[in-house]
Parts: sequence; C-alpha cells; structure tokens
Amino acid sequence: MPPRKIVFDTDPGVDDAMALYLALASEELEVLGLTTVFGNHTTEVTTRNALALLQIAGREDIPVVAGAKDPVAMPYLGPVAHVHGDNGLGNADLPEVTAKADEGAARWMFEQAAAHPGEVTLLAVGPLTNLAVALERHPEIESLVQEVVVMGGNALVPGNATPAAEANMLNDPEAADRVFGASWKVSMIGLDVTHEVIPTGAELDRLATSKLPATRFLSEVVPFYRHFFESTNGIDGIYMHDPTAVVYLIAPELFTSERWALRVETEGMSRGKTWPSLGGTDDATPSAWRDRPRVTVCTGAEERAVIELTFDRLL
Ligand code: BDR
Ligand code: CA
Repeated sequence: MPPRKIVFDTDPGVDDAMALYLALASEELEVLGLTTVFGNHTTEVTTRNALALLQIAGREDIPVVAGAKDPVAMPYLGPVAHVHGDNGLGNADLPEVTAKADEGAARWMFEQAAAHPGEVTLLAVGPLTNLAVALERHPEIESLVQEVVVMGGNALVPGNATPAAEANMLNDPEAADRVFGASWKVSMIGLDVTHEVIPTGAELDRLATSKLPATRFLSEVVPFYRHFFESTNGIDGIYMHDPTAVVYLIAPELFTSERWALRVETEGMSRGKTWPSLGGTDDATPSAWRDRPRVTVCTGAEERAVIELTFDRLL
C-alpha cells in the first residue's frame, strides 16, 4: 500500500515534536508538509519550532507553512510556558534555523487536497483554526480530503485546560465546532484516550539512548513537560496526547470508538467542551445535534500497544 499523505497541522509543543518524529519514522505515512498554528505558543514561535524540528531530523525537504495567528472569533489566549517551556520545546537549546516558512496554511492545505483528491489526511494536533479557515475560504476541501484526524476534545471525561475543556478546543471553540460540523470524515482522539496513554519515566529515559539525532533531541525536550505532569498530576511519565493521534493513523485497530455527532460549547464557563450526541442525530426533537454529521469519537485504546509502537519507532 502506498503511504498515506498527511498534512500535519501543529503547534509545537513538546508532544507535537514527539508526534512529528513518530510520523517521520513511519513508512505508512508521507508527511507532505507542516502547517502551523498558535496554541502551545504563538504562531511565530510554533513556526520557528516546526522548522527547527525538521532541521534536527534532517528533513528540510518538508515544507512549513505558517497559519492563523489568532482564533476565528477572539484573540489568542497566550502561550502555556508552564507546560511546554518558554520556547515551546521544553527550554531545550534550539539550532539557528536556516529554512524559511511560507505563509497561508489554509490555502496550502486546500492545494494539497486538490492536487491529490481523496488521498490527503489532515492531521490536526493543535487548535482547529487553520482547518476552519480552509473550510470557509475553500469549501471544496470538504469533499477533497480523505479524512480529518483531530487530537483534541473530551467526550466523557473532564477537560485539562479547564474542568470542562481540552486545550486545543478551548483555544478556538468556534473553529472546532465548524470542523466537527462539516461533512468530511472526522475522527477525534481526545482525552478519553490520551489520559490513559502514559509512557513511564523509565520509557522516557530510553529516548536519550537512541542513535537518532531527532530522538536524542526529544530526550532534551521532554523533561520539562514530564516535570509538569509529575508535579501537577502525580503521574510517573507524561500524557502522550499528539503521538496517540499519529498511532491512530497507523494502527486504528488499536482503538475503540463510537459514532456520535459533536458540538463544541462556545458560551460561558464550559467554553471549549466537546459534547457528544451519545446517540442518533435524527431524533424528532430539535436539538443542537440535529442534522449534524457523525464523527468517529475514540473512547478507548490498547494503551500499552500504542506506547510500544511509538517507542519502538522513536528508538
Ligand atoms: C493538546 O494541547 C497541547 O498542549 C498539546 O500539544 C496537545 O495537542 C493536549 O490537550
Ligand atoms: Ca499540540
């Protein structure tokens, strides 16, 4: 089978870096390019980080296209330096970046989908702004992409950025509601799954033993993030959010899912909460879910297998 063509939409971000290196180490995937968005840091910084990550991996052949600097309906909430470090990559030393990014992520996404109709998957591991902008400016994209795979949201479990909301959703709830409401094929890998995917401290320590420069760089990036989870959540390890969405692309059989319509709350203290229909959308009673398409919402995974696949490839 030819590799799946991926547009990797990202806000690097420690776990974004792990996810990228996992994707690059996976022959089932062909990363066409990286599109960047604010989230863990500003778009300026996440774009610099995307370029640096590719340079470290020796993959400057992969283009980086900068995207939205702000959510569709509000100003950017700001970086989360306490989670991802002041530079967004765990305060690890970064090389001087030589390559430049283009501008216009939404348009570039559309061009990729139009160049390979039915073959491009949008993997979104940051706020969904670029995808929402692409839908608005290039509505044909809806029927051109193969699938949209989203790391984000929380169907049946609490949030992480607030008690209600997961971070990528909270960063642009209006965009997320549009993406889940479009008629393309969408799969959501949210906290229902990723809060169960916890590589141990001992597994993370092994990253430093790799001969691969990219993986050794990860071993410098991860400790800040690991310390955050160890001190705030009391776990030995990290929540492996974004890499789990990459594993879903490679081995969807490791996941269990439901087919629900999804709405994203845009009001009040639950802003950013993803609400699943928990059933049909064709109910006679009018509701916020009526006439909305169903999304594949992952509710579980074989966690050890997800972790082992990730570390086998990174090492
Ligand atoms: C998501 O938010 C970001 O901090 C991570 O990179 C991940 O995409 C987890 O809630
Ligand atoms: Ca991310």
